[in-house]
Amino acid sequence: MTRSHTIDPRAAALDSFLDRHPEPAAGTDGIAIFRAVAGSYLDRFRGRPVQCGQTYRPHAAALERRGLAVVAEPEAPAGLCIVFATKYKEETLYHLARATSLLAPGGMLVVAAANELGAPSLEKRCGELIGGVASYSKHKCRVFWGRKDPSGLNGDLRDAWLDLGRLRKIEGTELVAQPGVFSWKAIDPGSRLLAEHLPEGLAGRGADLGAGYGYLGHALLSRPHGVAEWHLFEAELKALDAARRNLAGFASTTALHYHWCDVTAGLPEAPFDFILMNPPFHTGRDAEPGLGRAFIRAAVAALKPDGRLYLVANRHLPYEEELRAGGCGFERLAGGESYKVIEARPIADTLSRKR
Ligand SMILES: C[S@@+](CC[C@H](N)C(=O)[O-])C[C@H]1O[C@@H](n2cnc3c(N)ncnc32)[C@H](O)[C@@H]1O
Repeated sequence: MTRSHTIDPRAAALDSFLDRHPEPAAGTDGIAIFRAVAGSYLDRFRGRPVQCGQTYRPHAAALERRGLAVVAEPEAPAGLCIVFATKYKEETLYHLARATSLLAPGGMLVVAAANELGAPSLEKRCGELIGGVASYSKHKCRVFWGRKDPSGLNGDLRDAWLDLGRLRKIEGTELVAQPGVFSWKAIDPGSRLLAEHLPEGLAGRGADLGAGYGYLGHALLSRPHGVAEWHLFEAELKALDAARRNLAGFASTTALHYHWCDVTAGLPEAPFDFILMNPPFHTGRDAEPGLGRAFIRAAVAALKPDGRLYLVANRHLPYEEELRAGGCGFERLAGGESYKVIEARPIADTLSRKR
């Protein structure tokens, strides 16, 4: 399971900021948190109405374990808005704009951003939006803040950033996605390579682990096929919402199932005749091959004994070891300088010993 044992540095920086600047935590009015993550800073808000916005399932689950209710996005007016910046700059700009819409005049906007994900430039942009911010640095992050003064708010910028929250067409395709979703501007070249090398005649019950906005399913179901059920497992709710739109046209011929879940915790539905995937290998900027390995374990456990797994990965990622450890034989179907496409299948002997 993707359970974060390390403290999110943005949450730690926010906590440290609130030690030195307790005023934002001192009020009694509502708090809206965009892309909320768990952390001890939340203890400071006990007794106040808190809306935790989070669409990434592992983070949402961590908040729920603290007894907090999680919504996709805060909607109620608030006296304090906190924005956790993500690696998707446009999504964060959208959240800043939404926050200024929810904030009462005089209310405070506080932003926590990792330096490696562009905190300095985001701070500048936030200052342009609300007419100036003050800043604090800790744990390789910045926390910057300012009050909402309606006369200092840049309405044109806010409107432009609000527009970044909508679904938009991915160039050269019929598909839609939005900032905050993997590869929302263009089809990922690795996923494209996998789609190009899928064998003819895939049939029965199939799944995509880490399905994103549904590209692989769209490519598969657009061809002649015998797929009766197609299951999309995805942690990012915004991606799954886009996938619903992208695959709607196939619902009359294939039963479509959308699962908002953490694949590393195991699949809520199995077994499958075949599984496709382009596993994630980072949550922030740093590579985390452990995440992809956990995807492989989940896929191997969810395959029928005669099932097949088709995956694409960056060439340097050591996924073959995990396939071997899971009792699978495999072959490389395609490869290049950057990617490899692998077909894997359980080996009967090994599997019976493992199960
Ligand atoms: C490399 S992308 C592939 C997306 C899609 N299959 C495609 O080809 O465009 C990996 C996907 O895994 C999702 N993801 C990351 N961590 C996850 C987790 N723990 N459980 C389920 N999905 C996860 C990401 O949100 C992302 O959409």
